[in-house]
Amino acid sequence: MAEIGPDIERAASLLNDGKLVGIPTETVYGLAGNAFNKDAVIDIFEVKNRPEFDPLIVHTHSVNQLDKFVSEIPLVLEKLINRYWPGPMTVLLHKKSIIPDIVTSGMERVAVRIPAHPMTLELLKKLDFPLVAPSANPFGYVSPTTPGHVNDQLGDKIPYILDGGKCEIGLESTIVGLEDGEAFVYRLGGLELEQIESVVGPVKIQKHSSSDPKAPGMLKSHYAPSKKVICGDVTSLNHQFKDLKKGFILLNDHSELIEGEQTIYLSKNGDLHEAARGLFSSLRKLDSLDIDIIIAQEAPDQGLGRAINDRLKRASA
Ligand code: TXA
Ligand code: MG
Repeated sequence: MAEIGPDIERAASLLNDGKLVGIPTETVYGLAGNAFNKDAVIDIFEVKNRPEFDPLIVHTHSVNQLDKFVSEIPLVLEKLINRYWPGPMTVLLHKKSIIPDIVTSGMERVAVRIPAHPMTLELLKKLDFPLVAPSANPFGYVSPTTPGHVNDQLGDKIPYILDGGKCEIGLESTIVGLEDGEAFVYRLGGLELEQIESVVGPVKIQKHSSSDPKAPGMLKSHYAPSKKVICGDVTSLNHQFKDLKKGFILLNDHSELIEGEQTIYLSKNGDLHEAARGLFSSLRKLDSLDIDIIIAQEAPDQGLGRAINDRLKRASA
């Protein structure tokens, strides 16, 4: 198992040696390595069992670091960057050659973000290189929101997990780039669509695809526990599957269901931020119980509800 602790110096020295470290961010925990070190990047793909066609996000601490590895910042994206970084938004920008091709799966654009977690920002400032960090889970599984989640699945493959507590947002970053000169959302996430549109006007969203190599995070089946997940109207699904052992993920009161460890309320009053924060640990919890299926209530199609529904649908695909 990995060592878990708050030692930023230790994390920095391991990363300087080309090793991988679990790092906290406000969205989910990342599996970090030196973005300029091709061997470290290859190790990340191996540890996660991730296909090489799925590119990685590069994390840095300050906008003034960008010109080291990015060639230009279009105005539309600059507006979003100025408003929402540090924060749960990743931006696709044209890369310089210092970024190894394997980071972007050979594509011209690199995904970049400044995470809003004080320990990881301090760590990034101590390093002479940015960090690539995919979510710290085996490929295709639910992302981790605590150091314990990282340790459960990757602990025997990495030396250290930097303990920054429970993730504040609990959903991966929203991925934005330009398509035909306009802002385009490739993955819904911790930054709300409404927040993006308030800066750049109406944006289009990537439709789910099972084969688009441009954004494998948009794979139809992804973010999935090993149990079957079904998302929709809880009352009717409860009737439909009356002969199975069920676990429930709920957003507001369903008094017909008996409360117990199989019934998890993400937020009793429908607070979508609270719901997002608990979603992935609830999926993990139910995945570990003796049940046949997980039934999840659909969230309203607004704010973080969109990203919650997106993850539930892909967990159920
Ligand atoms: O919140 C997050 O974004 C977390 C934390 C650790 O920062 N990271 C994360 O990374 O979710 P990952 O690797 O699990 O998901 C990143 C997704 C990839 O699946 C891919 O679809 C997309 O970002 N992506 C990365 N680079 C890209 C690129 N150059 N072009 C298009 N999509 C890209
Ligand atoms: Mg991931």
